[in-house]
Amino acid sequence: MLAIDNLASRYGRIEVLHGISLNVRKGEIVTLVGSNGAGKSTLLRAISGVQPVASGTMRLEDKLIDRWRPHHRVAKGIAQVPEGRQVFAPLSVDENLRLGGIVRRDGNIGADLDEIYTMFPALAERRRNAAGTLSGGQQQMLAIGRALMARPKLLLLDEPSMGLAPVLVEQIFATIEMLKTRGLTVLLVEQNANVALAIADRGYVIETGRIVMTGTGKELLNNERVRSAYLGM
Ligand SMILES: Nc1ncnc2c1ncn2[C@@H]1O[C@H](COP(=O)(O)OP(=O)(O)OP(=O)(O)O)[C@@H](O)[C@H]1O
Ligand SMILES: [Mg+2]
Repeated sequence: MLAIDNLASRYGRIEVLHGISLNVRKGEIVTLVGSNGAGKSTLLRAISGVQPVASGTMRLEDKLIDRWRPHHRVAKGIAQVPEGRQVFAPLSVDENLRLGGIVRRDGNIGADLDEIYTMFPALAERRRNAAGTLSGGQQQMLAIGRALMARPKLLLLDEPSMGLAPVLVEQIFATIEMLKTRGLTVLLVEQNANVALAIADRGYVIETGRIVMTGTGKELLNNERVRSAYLGM
């Protein structure tokens, strides 16, 4: 689905991704774990096309996407749920979801809206409310729903559990697993490595802009170095 090879990216003169290579196969949940400032969000933004790339290549289903504009990447199946949710606070829940469908050519988004309201009943109850009035968990659901409105093949999630109470974290991860059963491919960035690795088929560990380890979710969960550095064990 997604193949990244030797990707480098900088802010001004400072390189923060130093030759990242990573693959996500169709139907997988792959997680990228790493500490603050490791480069996780920068990598997701590079995949979405909103962060410039200095060198390396990115392929979506074998097509080079490096030069595709961000909106084209969305139309071709890559949708990102950004760090911190970034819902449009003054707009209603319904308007936020409709904006997620703006790249759709078919214009037939009614059925998708219904599907998302069925998936997230709390959003249905609040469809006329301003997004800014929702709780953190509801805003995360809305950010996911907004991304799904583009009918993506590959969903990029940047720290969806951040700042949420444990019961909501559980709900978000259950949602991600449900999306996988519906055929979606997921690249999940998390600091909550424990839960992320538990639901992931495979994982990568990123440290200061480099992939330092990869394996199945289980292998990484049981790895001594991962346990002491990321799981506090
Ligand atoms: N807009 C920016 N300008 C300059 N440097 C930046 C910018 N955004 C991020 N950086 C730097 O790039 C590096 C990677 O940041 P990034 O946000 O990708 O990390 P992260 O792994 O997502 O961290 P976090 O877990 O805190 O979200 C860090 O050193 C950060 O300080
Ligand atoms: Mg980040």
